[in-house]
Amino acid sequence: MIKALSEDLRNKISAGEVVENPASVIKELVENSLDAGSNDINIIVEKGGHQTIQVRDNGIGISSEDLPASIMRFHTSKIASLTDLFSINTLGFRGEALASIASVSEMKIISSVGENEGASLLILDGKSGDVEPAPKINGTEITIRNLFYNTPVRKKFLKTPRTELRKIVDVVRRYGLSYPEVAFKLIADERQVFNLSGEKLEDRIDNLLDPTYSRNLLPLNITKGDYSFSGFIGNLNLIRSRPGEQYLLLNRRFIKDRLMNRAVYNAYESLLKRGEYPFFVINLVLPYDQADVNVHPMKLEVRFKDEWRVFNVLKNTVTEALGSILNTAPGFNISFESPSNSKEENFFNMSDNPSNENISLDLEKDTIQSKISDPGYISNSNLQRARQYASQLAESPLQNVDSISTENIWQVHKKYIISEINSGLVIIDQHVAHERVLYEEALEAFESTSMASQTLLFPEKIAFSPDDFDSLLDVLPYLEKIGFKIKKQDQTSIRIDAIPSEMAIGNERNVIREILDNFLKEQKKYSSFQEGLAAMFACKAAIKAGDILVKEEMQELVNRLFLTKHPYYCPHGRPIIVQMSLNELDGRFERH
Ligand SMILES: Nc1ncnc2c1ncn2[C@@H]1O[C@H](COP(=O)(O)OP(=O)(O)OP(=O)(O)O)[C@@H](O)[C@H]1O
Ligand SMILES: [Mg+2]
Repeated sequence: MIKALSEDLRNKISAGEVVENPASVIKELVENSLDAGSNDINIIVEKGGHQTIQVRDNGIGISSEDLPASIMRFHTSKIASLTDLFSINTLGFRGEALASIASVSEMKIISSVGENEGASLLILDGKSGDVEPAPKINGTEITIRNLFYNTPVRKKFLKTPRTELRKIVDVVRRYGLSYPEVAFKLIADERQVFNLSGEKLEDRIDNLLDPTYSRNLLPLNITKGDYSFSGFIGNLNLIRSRPGEQYLLLNRRFIKDRLMNRAVYNAYESLLKRGEYPFFVINLVLPYDQADVNVHPMKLEVRFKDEWRVFNVLKNTVTEALGSILNTAPGFNISFESPSNSKEENFFNMSDNPSNENISLDLEKDTIQSKISDPGYISNSNLQRARQYASQLAESPLQNVDSISTENIWQVHKKYIISEINSGLVIIDQHVAHERVLYEEALEAFESTSMASQTLLFPEKIAFSPDDFDSLLDVLPYLEKIGFKIKKQDQTSIRIDAIPSEMAIGNERNVIREILDNFLKEQKKYSSFQEGLAAMFACKAAIKAGDILVKEEMQELVNRLFLTKHPYYCPHGRPIIVQMSLNELDGRFERH
């Protein structure tokens, strides 16, 4: 027995695809407002949208005659024929969003067109009431209450208001970035999350993400045939270890497309490591018939008619925009290598030009000398601790390892420390060694007293997006244990008064951001919350390859390393020490 489904049941089935959560309701309502030509959109949510969602705009409005049709399935003002379907220039076109939302909630629409009186319509339990007169509001206001009240299974799957709000913020951010000239206001539980006037894209980026972003943007603008791409990509400061800040727009519609993301990543070449993601907001303007947006009811995925052409143009455009960075990066390598190259040259040309080598050596010495004479360079407390460690080391002979004779110790390529031991020599990776030391110290600090801090002369204020700020609050007590002194400033920002004494000043903003990013992404990989956090802190705060170390610092580091529980492997499992025995060396030189 095959029967037609009732209209209400059809709508509920559609709702399964279109209305996933409060954020998807907001997506549909905001798209409608934008399609109606609004330039001022106000969004109010209560309890993460569980209780109330309201979107009000100043668009063209819905006439009282059209109101009943607006909530009927497959009723739309946006397309009329099959040819329209292949050339869509509005965000909506399926004529099902309002019908779907109304079938799983209580909805009220108030709207007015031009100078006319307004009209309102109430829809309860999928059934609409009568159109009633209402005041003129110069646009449309749609209010949704009790989402999923009549679909209990769906309701059960709603996350906490906090999580739902996070998704709502994401949606508003996406549309805020695609339509920077439109004013957006988002109020959640009477708290103002965004209040944005129409502005330039770079200002919008600052307001929606982080006020430092605009300083780190590279513009992108190109027209190739019938394609025209524009927007911004982030420089290396905006590389994050968690995806989420990749905004790809097709004719101003936010879309997800792995291939096009790949085009952008590929352009960054070696500037990106695996697991790193650059920031971008790129709008691909293509003729409307060059992409099919009717792939999925939510319209997040699209199909390009000629995806490889889009891929190539996009990749080249990003490469061009990155130009200055890509050109300086290899330059940095060359200058890094040059001391050894010039020495080789000197070796062969010694008699011709004896002064050459001296010049380069003196230069090196000068920089080291100036660093040593800078009193802030090696902090006294570090040295103190180094001495303490060294003496402890002498008293308690370590099994497994020869004692480190740290008198003979050198740094090579600003990366490795080489030292003599009784049975041969050890090579230590300075970054992972410091990482291991900080990791164990941080773990210890969580259990007992906090790590040492250094007070900042100029406290630093950092603003976060509301959702990141929520996560930050979870991490805050631990940041304090490892030596940060942080005060909550207002709803979304903090003031840093002090940082861990081991950390380089000026790095705090990045370290906190990275801890947060990694924390959200990798939480599951570590056996405990604390270990994960300690590992992230250690990785971000440790000295890096490229940092010059003086003898005392190397001695301190090596001695502290051998006091850790696991001096041989870093928290991520990479080796820290490579040993080479005298036997092995003798063998290689055929000294038998
Ligand atoms: N904020 C608004 N301002 C003016 N008209 C609106 C607004 N919201 C909805 N409408 C009208 O109601 C109709 C139905 O909206 P609905 O979102 O259900 O469908 P759609 O936008 O046409 O297609 P889709 O289902 O793809 O979103 C729209 O075609 C539009 O004419
Ligand atoms: Mg719509």
